[in-house]
This record gives sequence, structure tokens and C-alpha cells, in this order.
Amino acid sequence: MPLSRLYLPLLGVLFSCYSCTITNSDTALANPPSLKTAYQGNFHIGAALNRPQIYEADSVAAALIRKEFNSITAENMMKWMHIHPGVDSFQFEAADKFVTLGEENDMFIVGHTLVWHSQLAPWVQEITDRDSMLQHLQNHVSKIVGRYKDSVRGWDVVNEALNEDGSLRSSLFLELIGDEYLLKAFEWAAAADPAAELYYNDYSLCNPAKREGAIALVKRLQANGVKIDGIGMQGHWGLDSPSLEEIENSILAYSALGVKVMITELDINVIPNPWDLEGADVNQNFEGSPFMDPYPAGLPDSVQIQLAQRYEDIFKLFLKHEDKIARVTFWGVNDGQSWKNDWPIKGRTNYPLLFDRAFQPKKAYHRVMGLKKLDE
Ligand code: XIL
Repeated sequence: MPLSRLYLPLLGVLFSCYSCTITNSDTALANPPSLKTAYQGNFHIGAALNRPQIYEADSVAAALIRKEFNSITAENMMKWMHIHPGVDSFQFEAADKFVTLGEENDMFIVGHTLVWHSQLAPWVQEITDRDSMLQHLQNHVSKIVGRYKDSVRGWDVVNEALNEDGSLRSSLFLELIGDEYLLKAFEWAAAADPAAELYYNDYSLCNPAKREGAIALVKRLQANGVKIDGIGMQGHWGLDSPSLEEIENSILAYSALGVKVMITELDINVIPNPWDLEGADVNQNFEGSPFMDPYPAGLPDSVQIQLAQRYEDIFKLFLKHEDKIARVTFWGVNDGQSWKNDWPIKGRTNYPLLFDRAFQPKKAYHRVMGLKKLDE
């Protein structure tokens, strides 16, 4: 038998292996490992973007956002004081840019937030009667949701309407309109964009008393035939609290209402919490001290490891309940720009996210990604 008859098939096999290597590495280049690809069969992975990130001021941050995330939330630019600063003036420029960025990258765009007692425009605080509050609130919700109809896919319609004991927080809206403002806000949002998902969003939603309040709120909407699609548990958590058990109980309890559960503002605090403060009330502020800012020059390995373990544990839990969880959004992109450097004490050095100040993935990132590798 001529030698060529023996070698040719062998060459064929070698060639097909070579070309399959090329194809695989091509795919790998087109789809480098990332949070969004690793978790694409489970839930959306989102990030809150600040103004410079929306405007893509830093090309490294911009590339990282496009690579890692398939959902975005505006950290501040859709809040009342920014988007509706005067009675008759809306400032849509940054919000438009944010929505365009999301559309260009095929991301699930989240609107944050329509009705919230914080970061209001000063003129709203001057409203003193029920009718004009109703009218301004309706105008606010309808204009903004209407403008982004079919682009923003989910809205935090009401943010932080509850006290820690589960009762309704006293706010301008509650005082002037009564608790009906909750129903109205959801109704106006649904009318302006029937296809958008509508959420109630809050912090400390793993606290049992507050959880009961959130459950009652959702039931009240449902009993009145008002559309609500999901509950956003903000997820401003610590290394040890809330416990995995409390988080799990809350996921189960909210999901039992027939709504989607989302972790909407995830970050893990690693530095001292003044007076064991719970929650994320943006109006609370405390004095700083070296004791309160223990790692200005870098996070010690021991804490880095604890943070990685905490992230692994909570993502393991999220995966266990992936049928109930629609999205996990980080409140920021990297440690350097996180609000946790300035809240509740200004000017500290915190390390709450998966990417460090140089945009490098931290141990915690690898542990979160590692959970998916084991899966494959
Ligand atoms: C925070 C932003 O991250 C800060 O930049 C801003 O100064 C204050 O608000 N709960 C929420 C978010 O719903 O809107 C808050 O965001 C954090 C707590």
C-alpha cells in the first residue's frame, strides 16, 4: 500500500483537530469568560453605572462593563433631583445616554427609581396639598416611563417605602396622599408602559419584620388588581449579616407571592459599621476616624479571603434558587467608585465589589466564576 494512503487520513484528522482548535479559540476570543456568560443560563448580572461610566469617560471601565454585565441600572441619573429638577423641567440627557448604552449592548435596562423620599428635587418638598402632589407624581411617573417605553425593561417604581418594623415610612407622599400613593404609582407606571416589569425595591428586606411589611405591601397591590412583577432586595450586606438563612427565607417568602426576586444593589461592606447600623439609609452620616477606616493602603489577605467566601456563599444560594431569581445587580463596577467609600462615613477606603481599584478581578470574582466551572 502506498504510504500516502496511510498518511492522508492521518493528516485529515490532524487538520480537523487544528481547525477545531482555531474555531474554539475564536469563540473564546469572541466570548471571553465573564460574569454574564458564566451566568447566562441562570439570571441577569447587572451593575449600577454612575455618570462618568454612562458617558464612557474611562475606556477601561467601559470595556469591563460591556464584557461582564448584561443588565445596567443608573446609580443616580434617573433619580428625581437629576431627571426632574424643576416643576416643568426634565433633564433627560444623561438618562438618554444610559438607555442608548444599554440598547447598543443588548442589556436589560433597569430604571431606578420613580417614587423615593430621598434625592428628591427641592421643589417637590414645597408641595403642600394632596391634589397637587397627586398631579405632580402622576406627571413624573408617566413622563419618564413613557419616554423610555419599550427600552427600559423594568422599573423600581417605589423605593424604600417601609420602616424597619414593616410599617409604612412617613414621607411627603404618605403624608399628603395616604397609602394610596403606592397603588397609584404602580398604576401610572403600568399605564405608561404595559410591557415594563414593575418592582418594589428596598434595603433590609431579609429582616423578618420588614419582610412582613413588604409581603403586605405586595399583597395589597395584588388584591387591588395592580400589576407588580418583582421585589428588589437591595443587598447592601456585610461579611456576616444577614445570615444565609435569612436571605434564603426572604427569597422563598417573596417568590411565594408569585413575583420575581432580584438582588438589585449588591455590595459587601468590609469596614466597621458605625453603631452596627443596619440598612442603607442614604441620609445617615457619621464622623470618620482611623479606627473606622482600617485599610486605607489595601485590604489584608485575611479579609480578602473572607470577602471571597461570602460572595461564593451567597452566589451558591442564588444558584440554588435560580428559578426564583431574575437578576443580580452590583451597586457599582469597581471598589474605587463604590458609594460605600463615602457612606455612611465620607472618604473611607472600602472594598465591597468584585473588581479592585485597578479594575482587576478580585479573589471574590474568581470564586463566583468558579461556582459555574464546577457546574459545567
Ligand atoms: C446611592 C448612590 O450610590 C450614591 O451615589 C448617592 O449619593 C446616594 O444614593 N439605596 C438606593 C440607592 O436605592 O439609590 C442608593 O444609591 C443606595 C441605597
